[in-house]
Amino acid sequence: MSRDQIQKTDDWRFPDNFLWGSSTSAHQVEGNNVLNNWYLWEQEGRINRQQKSGVACDHYNRFREDIDLLVSLNQNAFRLSIEWSRIEPEPGKINRKEIAHYEEVLRYLREKKVKSFVTLHHFTSPIWFEWEQSSSINHFRNFSALIAKELGHLIDFWCTINEPYIQANEGYLVGEFPPGKKNIKSFFRVMDNMVAGHNAAYHAIHSVLPHALVGAGQNSEYFIPASDDPLDRSVTDMNKAVRNRYFLDRTVCDYIGLQHYSMTKLRFNPHAPKMFYGSSVLSGLPQNDLGWEIYPDGLYHVLVELEKYGKPVYVTENGVADRNDTLRKDYLERYLKAVHRAITRGIDVRGYLHWSLMDNFEWCRGFDGRFGLCEMNYVTQERIARNSAKYYAQICKKNSLSV
Ligand code: BGC
Repeated sequence: MSRDQIQKTDDWRFPDNFLWGSSTSAHQVEGNNVLNNWYLWEQEGRINRQQKSGVACDHYNRFREDIDLLVSLNQNAFRLSIEWSRIEPEPGKINRKEIAHYEEVLRYLREKKVKSFVTLHHFTSPIWFEWEQSSSINHFRNFSALIAKELGHLIDFWCTINEPYIQANEGYLVGEFPPGKKNIKSFFRVMDNMVAGHNAAYHAIHSVLPHALVGAGQNSEYFIPASDDPLDRSVTDMNKAVRNRYFLDRTVCDYIGLQHYSMTKLRFNPHAPKMFYGSSVLSGLPQNDLGWEIYPDGLYHVLVELEKYGKPVYVTENGVADRNDTLRKDYLERYLKAVHRAITRGIDVRGYLHWSLMDNFEWCRGFDGRFGLCEMNYVTQERIARNSAKYYAQICKKNSLSV
């Protein structure tokens, strides 16, 4: 069904060639990543209940099993990240064995006809690298060029940096991610270095591969003011501007990777520097296991906000922490209806990748947030498709929500 046809029909089909998949990141699933800043953070006991990523899902060794699982669930796209600290453990010192590993992974995806979305920086940095330093821009450009030369022929979609705002906010303003700073100047310095780092990587990749499709992982939240009070409206506008637009307005891309989870109602609070003097107020909506409110229309609204950039959009993350799988089926159905509604309105959405294929290491929450379509048994390393994964598999197969 073409995009024109879809606008004339009220059924739940998606456009032809729509990509259906799921997302992961190296540190959260691979296991044994011991050369990055998160490894040190975990050793310092900075994670909830002193948890450590350890072997995680052992995906480094089990990637074939995981890709087979994804294919058995009718998915045709997979997002993974390349762990920079494995490839370049010391500045300029390249580990060829690790390049060969990712080559194997990417070849396997090609063999299985699965489109790859490859992130170059997903929250973890080699221990010698620091986004706050201006040298970070060159280092990141060189790393991107290296991957383009070595592995670019096997990569379908590039995602330079995952969620610049979240990294800068959590690492430099809130202090819950390494390096644990709480400094607004550092926050903006990091945002600006990520903007420059992305733009440098974009051009470096294109100089090796002129037709590469390069984007970044943009985490946009649906913000609304808690009241009509001008102060509530101002903090809401400020958060929208910094979180949803700062990076996009300053960068070049071939597509937008949108990542969206929840909605936040904001009230002005002079004692809460964290969200530019806004505090979140609950709206009484259903919540996921982490207390994030579920509001599917929010995804529609943030997709509409992207229209002005005039680029194709892939939803590269969207999902729900739901250990007992009581929310996920409904979440999928309602959020995907929001995507469909955006397409019907003319927004050029070309794919949806759910977060995540399986439960994994959820950063400062350790293994407690369970976002997987497949449940992980961390003792036996068994992956078991949840009922919602089977429901999603039907959608992927039919390219439609009428299943
Ligand atoms: C991140 C993922 C994370 C997910 C759920 C996103 O912000 O990119 O790494 O696991 O949200 O918290």
